[in-house]
Amino acid sequence: MRIAKILGLLVALVGLLAVGGFVFILTSFPDVAPAPDLAVAGTPEQIERGRYLAENVTVCQACHTPRDYTLFAGPIRRDLLGAGGERWDQTMGLPGVLYADNITPAALSEWTDGEILRAFTSGVSRDGTAIFPLMPYHAYGRMSQEDAEAIVAYLRQIAPIDHEVPERSMDPPLNIVVRLMPQQAEPQAIPSTSDELAYGEYMTTIAACSACHAPLADGQPILDMAYAGGHGYPLPGGGEVRAANITPHEGTGIGSWTRDQFIARFKVMVGARDQVPPGAYNTVMPWASYGEMTEQDLGAIFTYLQSLPAIENKVIRFTP
Ligand code: HEC
Ligand code: HEC
Repeated sequence: MRIAKILGLLVALVGLLAVGGFVFILTSFPDVAPAPDLAVAGTPEQIERGRYLAENVTVCQACHTPRDYTLFAGPIRRDLLGAGGERWDQTMGLPGVLYADNITPAALSEWTDGEILRAFTSGVSRDGTAIFPLMPYHAYGRMSQEDAEAIVAYLRQIAPIDHEVPERSMDPPLNIVVRLMPQQAEPQAIPSTSDELAYGEYMTTIAACSACHAPLADGQPILDMAYAGGHGYPLPGGGEVRAANITPHEGTGIGSWTRDQFIARFKVMVGARDQVPPGAYNTVMPWASYGEMTEQDLGAIFTYLQSLPAIENKVIRFTP
């Protein structure tokens, strides 16, 4: 009798805690400050910096623009710049279905500059919804304030495209847990280019190379293997491509590459339009987008990557 009573109380308590926790998550998260009050100037220099970042460094447009995978490395459809619609789902190990939103002025006209900036740097949408960190906003949150504002200035003036993107759907418990993921941005200053290692770390961070090049365990990146590769991506035409090991390991990474080889590997993809039959080797790495980075920026990324611990991890690049 006594034991039954204690058990009953325990069950009630656990239930209460669960409900309490649930209510707590619903009412207290995402725990991110209100969108900053801000008006970007939109000078030509700022817009150009924003274009360079969004198209070639932070590669917003490689996700928010449909890509043409009939060609090698899926160049973006420039006629649909920012229109959104790319889909990520369970076939990529995601517990749900996500779509890249339309980020042209047709979709963002009612958003304030601060709301746009908060969305990609802190992971909270205009209406307070927590964004899933498939968009690497934890990395973007370390971008300098001026770079983040430049991206907003750029987004304000791309061509508006009317294009409805379906709503996301996330499997439980992710639909609740996602609220814990947004994180207040902590903007850094851009290091001087004369400190190539620090500058290279900044560029590699905001280019979010680790978003693809980190291996995953249970859907979470293994951070101490951040650049060791291995995560697989199903290709639209069939087959699977895996992110390369880009740590300086001699045999399995890019330890034997020279700086010039590294830069050339990107540059050769600019404007390349090689047809790929369905099922043949292709890649999700947006080579052409990154390829338009300056040689200085690509070189700094190389310097930073070469400073990382060499991790032995042999990656089979492709399986049909
Ligand atoms: C790896 C792909 C990827 C990259 C790179 C990316 N995004 Fe996103 N973005 C997404 C996805 C997917 C969503 C929707 C996520 C969700 O619904 O939880 C999203 C959501 C957004 C939203 C919220 C829109 C809304 O209606 O709620 C904005 C704004 C945005 N992204 C802007 C950007 C900007 C600016 C950049 C570059 C600095 C960027 N994104 C880079 C995939 C990406
Ligand atoms: C959307 C996912 C994605 C992003 C983002 C990404 N990569 Fe990759 N990367 C891949 C995949 C997949 C491969 C393997 C197939 C290939 O070579 O394209 C790869 C291959 C590479 C290779 C070739 C290595 C070799 O041994 O041939 C290098 C170098 C590289 N990535 C560097 C980078 C750098 C630097 C960044 C950030 C500026 C980056 N990647 C961002 C997915 C990505």
